[in-house]
Amino acid sequence: MDWRAVCRCDDVTAEAVTVVEVDGVEVGLVRVGGTITAFENICPHQAGPVCDGEVMGPVEVLLDSDRRMLDERFAAHRRILICPWHGYSFDVATGECITDRKIHLRRWKVREDDGVVYVTVPGTRAAHRGQEGSNAT
Ligand code: FES
Repeated sequence: MDWRAVCRCDDVTAEAVTVVEVDGVEVGLVRVGGTITAFENICPHQAGPVCDGEVMGPVEVLLDSDRRMLDERFAAHRRILICPWHGYSFDVATGECITDRKIHLRRWKVREDDGVVYVTVPGTRAAHRGQEGSNAT
């Protein structure tokens, strides 16, 4: 496996996507619950630059025992990435589209070691397009 050092661990947050480039492939990095996830900067809908989208927690509704709404808040334990082109939203931890589980971001293996983030990018972008539906997670 070909691990590539891409950035410092401190460069990756839960608030935005950190985009790095490896062999011509743009890879987005987001921290979710202390773990970094990595995925290609191509939206599976119509190939928009998904990493330019907003990262936020999904909205949670708090209910009382009679199921009356008490409050709404952004969940802190999950992160959603919203594609800037048409608004498809993806669970960053799993890569799944939250409205259609058949659609998902193409993810890459990622690890942290001694303050450095490493990812694997197995080939060129053209090669990735030839692997539709086979996420390398
Ligand atoms: S290209 Fe991302 S939602 Fe359409």
